[in-house]
Amino acid sequence: MTDDLATLQAETEAALAACADPRALDAVRVGMLGKSGQLTALLKGLGAVPAEQRKERGAAVNRLKLAIETAIETRRVALDAAALDARLLAERLDVSLPPRPFPPAGPEAGAIHPIARTMEELTALFGAMGFGVAEGPDIEGDWFNFGALNIPDHHPARQDHDTFYVPAGADGRRPVLRTHTSPVQIRTMLNQEPPIRVIVPGRTYRADHDATHSPMFHQVEGLVIDRGIHLGHLKGCLIDFLRAFFGISDLPVRFRASYFPFTEPSMEVDIGWNRKTGELGRGGDWLEILGSGMVHPKVLANCGIDPREWQGFAFGMGIERITMLKHGIPDLRPFYDSDIRWLRHYGAPVLSPATLAEGV
Ligand code: DAH
Repeated sequence: MTDDLATLQAETEAALAACADPRALDAVRVGMLGKSGQLTALLKGLGAVPAEQRKERGAAVNRLKLAIETAIETRRVALDAAALDARLLAERLDVSLPPRPFPPAGPEAGAIHPIARTMEELTALFGAMGFGVAEGPDIEGDWFNFGALNIPDHHPARQDHDTFYVPAGADGRRPVLRTHTSPVQIRTMLNQEPPIRVIVPGRTYRADHDATHSPMFHQVEGLVIDRGIHLGHLKGCLIDFLRAFFGISDLPVRFRASYFPFTEPSMEVDIGWNRKTGELGRGGDWLEILGSGMVHPKVLANCGIDPREWQGFAFGMGIERITMLKHGIPDLRPFYDSDIRWLRHYGAPVLSPATLAEGV
């Protein structure tokens, strides 16, 4: 290699070694290999080299080009690695740091509201029994809330004092704020082919207000439709659920004949408790907890389901009620007061989701 080429190589290598970042590296590369780079000029100048020297000179310039390209690439890899190292160092996570204490101290501390918590528990418990979760609108059509559920026009639940009505739509029928979650039975059966297994937790509304009633409250509905479903399935499912939810494995459960327009037969379900102390599971008294029954054949037919082929059971209960009983909460009204002290007392920690392992 002639002296000028050797010098150029040495200079380039020194310049590369001095590059601290990709931009400096790029400047060196352009200075050598760019349009008016030094090496480009050498290659262009080969034409002017006397013919007898051209072959040797050409080979030397090309060797230099290769050497410089290799050196640039090597330096680029080194710079990239150094940049990554620096980033890793700067962004290092100290995994040994302890988690923040929960609940966080100070006024911002929150908790899962007992209603939401119960809904999570219901979802976990019934989910383990193969139930999905269905939802429906709070403002409901008259037919969904009443008619399709076999609730005749004269039924007291239709009276103004129970039901919040919304101004009439085009059909002259007044939509309602749903008075129960049962209309979602209808919506589910219309939208889904049997077999069906869903629960419906949600908000419900009735024009009722005192220490034990709120105009807005929550229910959970359950619906199972399949072939060969009978009362035994209803009983087994609800006994298992109630014992799991209240965490009492021998909780007494009683089924009492009753009447709902949308089930036949209908049953109210009571659990054993002590009326005086409020303790659940013993004491010889009975407390009504939910309504249930075998889905009325008319309701199935209203949803286009052949009652000779499919049967099912349904149930519905108040979420506030089972929450108050489970946690010994004496008054309904604070549920909606947004009082952070009440929430901290009765709420659940945000970092412990409801699981089957707990309360079951
Ligand atoms: N919808 C009833 C209510 O709000 C509760 C109920 C009773 C729901 C029996 C049901 C059922 O699905 O089968 O009072």
